[in-house]
Amino acid sequence: MKAFPEAFLWGGATAANQIEGGWQSDNKGISTSDVQPNGVMGKMEERIPGKENLKDTAIDFYHRYPDDIALFAEMGFTCLRVSIAWTRIFPSGDEREANESGLAFYDRLFDELAAANIQPLVTLSHYEMPYDLVKRYGGWGSRKVIEHFEHYAKTVFTRYQHKVKLWLTFNEINMSLHAPYTGVGLPEQSEKADIYQAIHHQLVASARAVAACHEIIPDARIGNMLLGGLVYPLSCHPGDILQAMQENRSWLFFGDVQARGSYPGYMLRFFREHNIQIDMTDQDQKDLSHTVDFISFSYYLTGCVSHDETINNKIQGNILNMLPNPHLESSEWGWQIDPTGLRILLNELWDRYQKPLFIVENGLGAKDRVDANGKIHDDYRIHYLNDHLVQVREAIEDGVDILGYTSWGPIDLVSASHAQMSKRYGYIYVDRDDDGHGSLSRIRKDSFYWYAEVIRTRGLSLQQLK
Ligand code: BG6
Repeated sequence: MKAFPEAFLWGGATAANQIEGGWQSDNKGISTSDVQPNGVMGKMEERIPGKENLKDTAIDFYHRYPDDIALFAEMGFTCLRVSIAWTRIFPSGDEREANESGLAFYDRLFDELAAANIQPLVTLSHYEMPYDLVKRYGGWGSRKVIEHFEHYAKTVFTRYQHKVKLWLTFNEINMSLHAPYTGVGLPEQSEKADIYQAIHHQLVASARAVAACHEIIPDARIGNMLLGGLVYPLSCHPGDILQAMQENRSWLFFGDVQARGSYPGYMLRFFREHNIQIDMTDQDQKDLSHTVDFISFSYYLTGCVSHDETINNKIQGNILNMLPNPHLESSEWGWQIDPTGLRILLNELWDRYQKPLFIVENGLGAKDRVDANGKIHDDYRIHYLNDHLVQVREAIEDGVDILGYTSWGPIDLVSASHAQMSKRYGYIYVDRDDDGHGSLSRIRKDSFYWYAEVIRTRGLSLQQLK
């Protein structure tokens, strides 16, 4: 068994709205996440004065980040994925002047990371946008939002140009098809045509951010971020194979635009056949030619599709509407566990784009139990991560260029789809429950020591699958 390459980045991934808390600290504005108390698939609810949401405090990373970073450093992290809350920088999203106290927070955070020798990988927009942009402009349905996003992106590139060299534009940009409010700030029942138009605006904004990043920080690299929802045919029936190809294209198209610079033919056909006319200017087309430097993605599960519409026994809890794979087991939340799928996806993406890849999310959401001695024996998590990392190494052996691996939620945080604390991903336990009770103290789980060893040995401590 070989060690992972020396330059391979190891770490964890987080999002501002799931860890920071401090939802109104230092002039922060209200984001869409602040009015979605039940998670990204949940409805938008106006704030009731005095009523707390779990994310208002989250795990209080806003105040505890130095101690948390010290724990990441103890595990040997070389990279931490964080996101900037747009509303800390521009509380309403459309101001010209940035909020200095918001900018200063991320300065302190990046300085702390630098002192710990941990490289930040920064997402510009992770499942939140200023709520005022939704109210005033109708979210990404308006072209105006492209300019506001570009201004925000240029502001943070300029401010952090010496501190951040790895950037991502929009988290899981393809999620807008399943959760339009979360992705593009549109009502859940929106027409397909409106959703694709808003997505188009976001793709243009992403490309403009790429261009701005290249100009302002020439030695930085900027990537896209896809929800890697690999779909298999349920059988070898050619109809199933074709259906799986179409399903995969429904999310790969985002990557095609971001990595190749224009809409693929199959998407133009889809628009024609669904009577969708995208308002696409010549300038938009020029903007789209600014392609990303690398492809990043999240990977949790796979599923199947059939050409037979009567087969619609969906995976429980699965947000992607896929059929269960009879060969795979599921997590407590019904997400089907498929380490081999990660190797397949890495190879597919590499073959398709020939650009470096970055696995920026992967992990097992599970309920943990603190035993009488205050320990958490999370062997299930260790198995999951071990088996996936073994497949990452296989992909490297296959010749795939992989920049790094940041597992999701290295410290327990508020889950996105259900806004729960009980769905835990961390190597570090946080004492807080779904009702917001708990001391917020941190405990190292068994997986903490396991991951530290994996990083220290550059993967030589991983156990090969039987
Ligand atoms: C990804 C998101 O979809 O999956 C994260 O980018 C999210 O924000 C993660 O937390 C895991 O999903 P969940 O619902 O288990 O938190």
